Amino acid sequence: MKKKPSARSARRPRSRAASAPVKRIAILTGGGDCPGLNAVIRGVVRAAILEHGWEVYGILDGYDGLLSTDRFRRLYSHDVRGLQMRGGTILGTSNRGNPLHYPLEKKGKIRYADVTGDIVRNLRAMGVDVLVAVGGDGTMKITQALFKKGVRVVGVPKTIDNDLDATDVTFGFNSAVSTATDAVDKLHTTAESHHRILVVEVMGRDSGWIALEAGIAGGADVILIPEIPFALDRICAHIEERKRRGSRFSIVVVAEGAYPAGGEKIYEKPPGAAGVPGRLGGVGKWTADKISLCTRLETRVVVLGHLQRGGMPTTFDRILATRFGVEAVNLIAWKKFGYMVCLRGRSIESVPIARAIKQIKRVSPRGQLVRAAEALGIELGRVH
Ligand code: F6P
Repeated sequence: MKKKPSARSARRPRSRAASAPVKRIAILTGGGDCPGLNAVIRGVVRAAILEHGWEVYGILDGYDGLLSTDRFRRLYSHDVRGLQMRGGTILGTSNRGNPLHYPLEKKGKIRYADVTGDIVRNLRAMGVDVLVAVGGDGTMKITQALFKKGVRVVGVPKTIDNDLDATDVTFGFNSAVSTATDAVDKLHTTAESHHRILVVEVMGRDSGWIALEAGIAGGADVILIPEIPFALDRICAHIEERKRRGSRFSIVVVAEGAYPAGGEKIYEKPPGAAGVPGRLGGVGKWTADKISLCTRLETRVVVLGHLQRGGMPTTFDRILATRFGVEAVNLIAWKKFGYMVCLRGRSIESVPIARAIKQIKRVSPRGQLVRAAEALGIELGRVH
């Protein structure tokens, strides 16, 4: 690593830094992990080394790894051999301790501070010319803050929730939907044999993409998503109606962020003070208990949780992640800093990170996918 720069060189103007040649890049993976992260790392490392001869460093544990200058590893082409099929991230990640709002302890008291200035200094001390940040909404917000401070950055979007508005789809989503669909398929046979209601809770904080797609693909009878607050009596009526017609079992797919109309999201651990996010969980059990009361049918709950984030990426996600990684390197070569790669139709493009973080992508309550589900007779619990 380069020697720590003098205070004078650290204050060099942004315009000069923007055009300076690239020799060393760093990559980090931030936020919750998802299948395909390793395929991005492989794409970036291979394209950077083979096409440009740059040095590549992997930062450990997301932005946490940039709060000091010793948590990195040099990545060579052989380090990423076969990585396209491996789930998780070889660099580690973290979705706690946001550097824009970082908890610092002083005399036993916690106060929150913006520590991105430390990250800027550390990147300079490490001689990193460009940072590639792979992450979701939260990671992109931090990345944009660093860009505004003069760091040359490129973003790569990821999340199983598929809730980044600037890209048609994020890698990880397809793998998560496959896992959830597989679970729904399997639960069908046991639900039918025992004449039970099986409630499957899937991930999706603010967006119900996983629930909706896995529910449609797996043939669920009820799908509950955060975008459509649900009425319990509609769900019960639907299940009763199925029973009258001879189907004494039902499959309910519920996103963790779904909630009853007039009610609130259900947390396993409520949000903390000073913007610390809570941990969602429990809506599956809540719904199952209520359904059991109103229908008098036996219910069981399956919470898929982190199973959806684990395992090998699907072929679709491997290809998308690889293309994102290679395009991130192209953006660096074109000096298109402050941009995030994205998918538009079948083409890989890019968008300013500032625009990408403006809003999240949610299911349209009257959109095509929802209408297709309703056309199949799936109940979404909508209050009319
Ligand atoms: O953002 C992706 C996500 O999978 C959410 O759907 C979920 O609420 C969250 O991550 C859980 O993250 P963790 O348990 O790792 O904090």
